[in-house]
Amino acid sequence: MKVTYYGHACLGVEIKGVHLLFDPFITPNDKAKAIDIQSVPADYILISHGHGDHVADVEVIAKRTGAKVISNYEIVSWFEKKGIKNNHPMNHGGQWKFDFGTVKYVNAVHSSTLPDGSSGGNPGGFVISTDEGDFYFSGDTALTYDMKLIGALYDLKFAMLCLGDNFTMGVEDAAVAAEFIQCDTIIGMHYDTFGFIVINHEKAIETFREKEKQLHLLKIGETLTID
Ligand code: NI
Ligand code: MN
Repeated sequence: MKVTYYGHACLGVEIKGVHLLFDPFITPNDKAKAIDIQSVPADYILISHGHGDHVADVEVIAKRTGAKVISNYEIVSWFEKKGIKNNHPMNHGGQWKFDFGTVKYVNAVHSSTLPDGSSGGNPGGFVISTDEGDFYFSGDTALTYDMKLIGALYDLKFAMLCLGDNFTMGVEDAAVAAEFIQCDTIIGMHYDTFGFIVINHEKAIETFREKEKQLHLLKIGETLTID
């Protein structure tokens, strides 16, 4: 699998030539000016929750690529009214098999109001099971004890965890989350984009290293191959 960081909480995961794109927020992100959204590939767009810093570029990328939009029922319905008919609604605890693997929508402790004030339902994260291995995308969340269930039920190859603090769990809590989900390879997200979420990279990497975990803080546009 190949993981590409597009800044903030937007990541692409390529699984055997199928492109999953999580939480597209590129054009409003000053730090991601080098990314051309016309060239970002997507066969599926997965949206964790309704906040603007997770949905800003969904419409334009979905309309260009024809990608299937996967999220909770409220968010999918909101985008359907914008003309995105290729979609798949889910809710917490449910899973569905797609051509690249199985997606389960899991708990996140956060909020989920959409940019126009509409309800974005409840926020979530995703656990994806594929022939190449399983992985977790936390979305925006606090550290929760529910994460232990993910560790018990899945053998995660890697996980994308928010760790910028203030709006989500910070580095210390994310390192505990890595223990709860029993995963040693972590890709950080939701940091450095705004003043409230700036982190010390060296300290963050060391915090994970102390727990024998590897934290990757990818450069925007960088791709990591995970075998
Ligand atoms: Ni959020
Ligand atoms: Mn956010």
